Amino acid sequence: MPEITVEFARSLYRGHDAAHAFDHVLRVTRLAEHIAKTEGANVRIVRTAGLLHDMARMKPDHHLVGAARAREILADEDPTFIEAVAHCIEAHRFSVAPHPATLEAQCLMDADRLDAIGAIGVARAFAYAGGHNNRLWSRTLAEIREEVGSEPDAYRRAYAGAPDYTPAHELICKLERLAEGLHTPTARALAAGRHAFMVEFFTRLDREALGLE
Ligand code: ADP
Ligand code: NI
Repeated sequence: MPEITVEFARSLYRGHDAAHAFDHVLRVTRLAEHIAKTEGANVRIVRTAGLLHDMARMKPDHHLVGAARAREILADEDPTFIEAVAHCIEAHRFSVAPHPATLEAQCLMDADRLDAIGAIGVARAFAYAGGHNNRLWSRTLAEIREEVGSEPDAYRRAYAGAPDYTPAHELICKLERLAEGLHTPTARALAAGRHAFMVEFFTRLDREALGLE
């Protein structure tokens, strides 16, 4: 079976919103390949999984549906390769089982997380907010932190659909913790700059929104 090309992969993605458009898939694939090379992982497995990882994004349990579709698309390949790619896809969700058990799956998950933080992460959060008619800003990080309390995942599940859930809420509920959970040293090094920039952006946003800067 020939390699999964970018053009073939692109044809699998239709109707995704700006935060999940095929551009996200390409960024994640590039990052995942870079991490894989540096970490000594199997680059072909990681690249194939990167290109296919979000193809079932519109379905519930898209990681499982995506892994099943990947098995069909790759049916002529060596079974070990197929299962390695399928595992990367089924284990790429942040907080949903199964967890990544191979170095290749860890490379993909780290790349997917990196694409949710830094300047890109900020852009995606605002694109999401714009697409869902959420407000750009409603209150300060300190106020949000107090309101969210000690169960950010539960808060996000309950309120992420409401218009008052802003990108700063997304920072407190999810984005600011992504850098901590990375698996590979290569991704952790990339995350440091992204994380610092993202926090600086939201800190400045508070000051501008309050008319202080
Ligand atoms: P995934 O399972 O890929 O993490 P999500 O939809 O949770 O899917 O997140 C995808 C991207 O959209 C992330 O960059 C995330 O920060 C952003 N996002 C998701 N929900 C919101 C929201 N309610 N407000 C702002 N950004 C959001
Ligand atoms: Ni993704």
